[in-house]
Amino acid sequence: MISNKITDSINGEIKIPGDKSISHRSIIIPSISKGITEINNLLLSDDVLHTLKAFKLLGVKIIQENNRTIIHGKGLNSLKKTLQNIYLGNSGTSARLLTGLLASQNFNSVIEGDDSLSSRPMKRIIEPLKLMGAEFDNKSGKLPLRIIGKKLKNSNITIDLPSAQIKSGLILAALNTSGTSTIIEKNITRDHTENMLKVFGANIDIEKKNTNNIIRITGGKELKSTNIDIPSDLSSCSFFIVAALINKGSKIILKNININPTRDGILLALSKMGANINIQNKRFMSGELVADLEVKYTELNGCELDSKIAKLMIDEYPILSIAAAFAKSPSIFRGLGELRVKESDRLELIRLNLNKCGCDCKVINDDLLIKPLKNYKIVDNKIRTDFDHRIAMSFAIMGTKIGNLNIMDCDSINTSFPNFPKIFNNSGGNFL
Ligand code: S3P
Repeated sequence: MISNKITDSINGEIKIPGDKSISHRSIIIPSISKGITEINNLLLSDDVLHTLKAFKLLGVKIIQENNRTIIHGKGLNSLKKTLQNIYLGNSGTSARLLTGLLASQNFNSVIEGDDSLSSRPMKRIIEPLKLMGAEFDNKSGKLPLRIIGKKLKNSNITIDLPSAQIKSGLILAALNTSGTSTIIEKNITRDHTENMLKVFGANIDIEKKNTNNIIRITGGKELKSTNIDIPSDLSSCSFFIVAALINKGSKIILKNININPTRDGILLALSKMGANINIQNKRFMSGELVADLEVKYTELNGCELDSKIAKLMIDEYPILSIAAAFAKSPSIFRGLGELRVKESDRLELIRLNLNKCGCDCKVINDDLLIKPLKNYKIVDNKIRTDFDHRIAMSFAIMGTKIGNLNIMDCDSINTSFPNFPKIFNNSGGNFL
């Protein structure tokens, strides 16, 4: 994809697709509940389609009709052994959540993924699951992973890494044990699994103590199917927010955006930079906080962010870095080690590609430093993405200011936002 300069600005009401994290959970949780769930606004991106296909393989009846998906759940122990390996493409969320769920089934499974997913760490979910008695046939700590399904024992587990994927994998495993499991999160991370389980009647209780989040789940209780309306994805929306903030004359409206406080770091960070974002009409939708956003062009200031905010916006550093590249002063974002084990080494690719665009950007230990310039002179217009959707979309937005960036391997955008170029061009953009 070539990202040409925006001739004018981006404007109008922009419809952002369904939230990716909530879409995964909207397939997984109804598939192990009792009854029929109708889902509205499921994100039909590659990652979510891999989760959908996995549950069809596991014997769940799932029907897609227009913009609705209907799941016929038959209970906690209704999944069936698959005849083939379960292929999860690029999807880290599917891999970590399914590992927990399948570890507590009464059959064995094998999950596998593409090259990028097969290089990402799985020990972070395997090791805590072993504390519940889970068994795996795997030495590498990476995919492919053979899961020996069995009855697990309720346990007390503390998670040191900030990861909603690990937490959710453990919660899904705990649903199918007898007795109460306690999962202590040292860092608060996105809580979509907990929110949806509450709506589905699970025996789950959450207590916040100092900086810890204590989650207690009593397993064995069947979940009750409930219809789900999926809000629009704040992570996908961030590309448009930053595009509007940095391109003069822009004014956009984004409706039904999920602003879950465990996930809204990008809004806090941009507001620290002085961004003109008006959050209106806050309300709840299927257990999640949503709002409408109005965003106007702003001359941003640089800012310093400490590692605590990283947990609330881990996926948004690539696009926040683009905002920082057009601010009036330097920025420093601290504690970004987890960015090295995402769909790509995002810390390195942000630095490399900003340098290619002529921007002074450095990585020192786990911190990212960006010194913006008034005008950029492109050094090399080939943007390396390593098939990472968020790197591709972030540098497409960079191109709206500096022009003619050639975004390599951008099919990866289908991972989370299949219509991104089309929707962007409809609002005034110029991607070829
Ligand atoms: C996700 C959790 C985050 C995030 C990912 C989606 C989820 O990963 O980066 O894109 O849906 O639970 P970690 O929990 O590993 O940080």
